Amino acid sequence: MAADIPSFNLNTGAKLPSVGMGCWQGQPGPGRDNELVDALVKAINVGYRHLDTATGYQNEGEVGQAVRQSGVPRSELFVTTKLRPGGVHDPVKEFENSFKALDIDYIDLWLLHWPQGFTEDDGGFGAGQACGLEHQKHLGPTFNETWAKMEDIFLNSHKGKVKAIGVSNFSIKNLEILAKTSKVTPAVNQIEAHPYLPEHELVEYCKQKGIHITAYSPLGQYNASIHDDKDLNEIAKKHDVTAATVALSWAVQRGTSVAPKSTNEKRMKQNITLIKLSDEEMKQVNNISHDPKRSTRLNFFVIDKETGKILGWTMEEMGWDVGFLEEPGKSTKKIAEGK
Ligand SMILES: NC(=O)c1ccc[n+]([C@@H]2O[C@H](COP(=O)([O-])OP(=O)(O)OC[C@H]3O[C@@H](n4cnc5c(N)ncnc54)[C@H](OP(=O)(O)O)[C@@H]3O)[C@@H](O)[C@H]2O)c1
Repeated sequence: MAADIPSFNLNTGAKLPSVGMGCWQGQPGPGRDNELVDALVKAINVGYRHLDTATGYQNEGEVGQAVRQSGVPRSELFVTTKLRPGGVHDPVKEFENSFKALDIDYIDLWLLHWPQGFTEDDGGFGAGQACGLEHQKHLGPTFNETWAKMEDIFLNSHKGKVKAIGVSNFSIKNLEILAKTSKVTPAVNQIEAHPYLPEHELVEYCKQKGIHITAYSPLGQYNASIHDDKDLNEIAKKHDVTAATVALSWAVQRGTSVAPKSTNEKRMKQNITLIKLSDEEMKQVNNISHDPKRSTRLNFFVIDKETGKILGWTMEEMGWDVGFLEEPGKSTKKIAEGK
């Protein structure tokens, strides 16, 4: 049975469950082939109806297998996948590979994973130099050009095989550049968001434009700061829940969907059981990032600590105004500055 959680309407008319399962986890490997499939079937049994994967996670095959194995009708499930930065040179080939690997009749949502692409396709996420902006045109397609190809796949060449297209990791600055040439408004912008990075301005901007926000790393990934946070724990105590439940409930209550990852059944259940926060409590969480020790990105995987670049782009090129703190929640020492 699906969990009793709200859904959000996308600008295509489709419904996106407010809590999805993050699939950036459990890579396949010798002896581990069924680990992810089992975890995802468990998640579907627990009530998850949205699975968030990406070509870059190298597990579309397992995600598709879990969908087919779950016994839940395809029409009740929502599957998101993403075009990886190394694949921007041939989006048709990338789409067809994802479609074949997933093998689930259609893809509900296909996102441009990052605004930047990479010059070299190493078969994984991508390698070489970053491209995607007008001044990098000599290196590869701009994200406007890649989006135009995604639009053509969605509207014409592969119509019906993909129900919606969207973007990920786009700032207001880059959404404005995209809007100059786009025919289709992205259905979703999937971004890092949690109480330490509420992105209030971007969330409001997307709301005005009819772009739904999905929050990734909504629990701050492997960092302990969200779980240890004093405000989240103060609220959690009152409701007899965990700080994680408060963070996820806050996110959904403000109109963003979330895609927390867990392979643990108890935590899967916990993450899909939301509570109602009072206006005061919402305000308390909204204001956490006013504390400079608690205003930071937590997806450390994407930052080069030497150069401060994000997958080859500067913070300015990303249009990001919040950087990375070395010790989230503890000090204001920075790895990368925002604007
Ligand atoms: N678009 C993008 O660029 C992008 C980037 C990053 C992530 N994502 C997507 O977002 C998903 C989630 O983000 P994420 O994996 O980075 O981070 P996350 O969901 O914020 O955190 C996952 C971590 O939190 C633990 N956890 C889960 N529920 C918990 C709970 N109730 N209490 C305590 N710990 C808990 C998990 O461990 P256990 O498994 O042991 O519970 C795991 O270590 C990814 O899987 C992926 O689908 C997208």
